Amino acid sequence: MNLNEVEILIPEEKIKQRVKELGQQITADYPEGNLVVVGILKGAFVFMADLVREIDRELTIDFLEVSSYGKSTESSGQVRILKDLKDPIEGKHLLLVEDILDSGNTLHYVKNIMLQRHPASVKICCMLDKPDRRTAPIKSDYCGYDVPDEFVVGYGLDYAELYRHYPAICRILPETVARIKAEGRGE
Ligand code: IMP
Ligand code: MG
Repeated sequence: MNLNEVEILIPEEKIKQRVKELGQQITADYPEGNLVVVGILKGAFVFMADLVREIDRELTIDFLEVSSYGKSTESSGQVRILKDLKDPIEGKHLLLVEDILDSGNTLHYVKNIMLQRHPASVKICCMLDKPDRRTAPIKSDYCGYDVPDEFVVGYGLDYAELYRHYPAICRILPETVARIKAEGRGE
């Protein structure tokens, strides 16, 4: 990690411990039946990989890719499905895994689409939540941490597609955003 560009908000060890707790809670909560854990790409890929290894019951995984942000730090409000699920979900328990719940537009839209396919249940697990930013009527069922209204990167989260591989959750410094914008890579 280049600590001249970001500042650590939640270190790796704390993330690991919290993900373990979430996995245990999910393991304890789910009733009998098929559980499909659906990662929302790209942001959820790191959290998803860690989370499923902490869930101790039979499950399958699938992925959905949606786009709403482009290169910006602000939601455009427009949500598009770029890659749909591979398999039908009718009658199955669906756990949607997301990196961060911000305005809530993305998950509000995704949850409604999923409900039209008649799953047994739909729940949401997000690593981070920015409750102050919420505009859509949606809540998470499982959440790692609430974070303040600041743009964060790492642990799957990006700015202009950068920093997804950083193992900690970090605050991106304003001068970093300014530099990336000046290079014409961010918005
Ligand atoms: P929402 O539709 O506004 O809830 O936006 C959710 C999506 O916006 C997340 O899946 C992220 O891809 C992106 N996002 C929101 N806040 C941040 C942030 O602080 N850092 C990186 N991505 C973010
Ligand atoms: Mg995302």
